[in-house]
Amino acid sequence: MADVAGMRSPYRSTSDTFDLDDLVSKDPFKQFENWFDLARSHPRIEEANAMALATATKDGMPSVRMVLMKGYDHSGFQFFTNHGSRKSSEINENPKCSIMFYWEPLKRSVRIEGKVERMSEEYSTTYFHSRPRTSQLGSTSSQQSTVVESRQCLKDKYEELIEEYKDDDKIIPKPVFWGGYLVKPSSFEFWQGQTNRLHDRLKFRLQKDEEVTDPKLTHVADDGWVIERLLIFFRGGYLVKPSSFEFWQGQTNRLHDRLKFRLQKDEEVTDPKLTHVADDGWVIERLSP
Ligand SMILES: Cc1cc2nc3c(=O)[nH]c(=O)nc-3n(C[C@H](O)[C@H](O)[C@H](O)COP(=O)(O)O)c2cc1C
Repeated sequence: MADVAGMRSPYRSTSDTFDLDDLVSKDPFKQFENWFDLARSHPRIEEANAMALATATKDGMPSVRMVLMKGYDHSGFQFFTNHGSRKSSEINENPKCSIMFYWEPLKRSVRIEGKVERMSEEYSTTYFHSRPRTSQLGSTSSQQSTVVESRQCLKDKYEELIEEYKDDDKIIPKPVFWGGYLVKPSSFEFWQGQTNRLHDRLKFRLQKDEEVTDPKLTHVADDGWVIERLLIFFRGGYLVKPSSFEFWQGQTNRLHDRLKFRLQKDEEVTDPKLTHVADDGWVIERLSP
């Protein structure tokens, strides 16, 4: 096994902890804003709005990917995607989700859990047209998450669209399969890493109906939220045994590269144009970005 156990970087010092008195607000959205503003103005953080979005099928198979948060307020956190993608089909059958920001130079992360809902067509259309034309065409050309024959097929489709919309005055219609989602939080966890591993974890959660709280542990905050300090962790090892790997590389024109390895199913007959046999029972497919 590759030994990376010695990889360890210093986090925050014991004189720089994060406790209840350090909260700028008892409103978790305002606390988020305070940390987010620091992250977005940090010279070593290029995309402070990049967040991991975890969804799951109804029967509990999880999946996670990065998306860009495109706005937030008390109604929730927005992102935009393709309604035919894997994440969207999981959201359709199970709207529960989790998002997570990690700002490595600050040694801070925010984990949010909640439910996702679709934003209105009008809102998505307005946002779609605010994007650069190359990104609009990138989204229009791709049936996100479907298996495709080659990068060339994606490029051909994209170039056809560039030709069709070469006149800058010609409006690119928002595809019906593209739009926005809103994550509506029911909890926020603010985490700050300490070098001695006594990390700080403050969790806001919505107080349950008629819940009686212990004031030593649970602190009443604003607008129906309560705050709790969580334990750090108990050490113990786990092994994740993969059944798929996706290698993703970002392109400025949004024709991102996605190569997925997955274990071939028993007796599966594959189409050699789409599915390439690899080593040790794995197959490789190119996914649409
Ligand atoms: C930093 C970063 C930001 C991304 N932002 C988005 C985004 O805002 N919307 C999106 O659909 N995909 C975005 N992607 C691509 C996704 O990670 C993912 O490949 C794609 O949404 C398909 O995911 P799915 O097959 O799980 O639905 C981003 C990837 C990275 C690395």
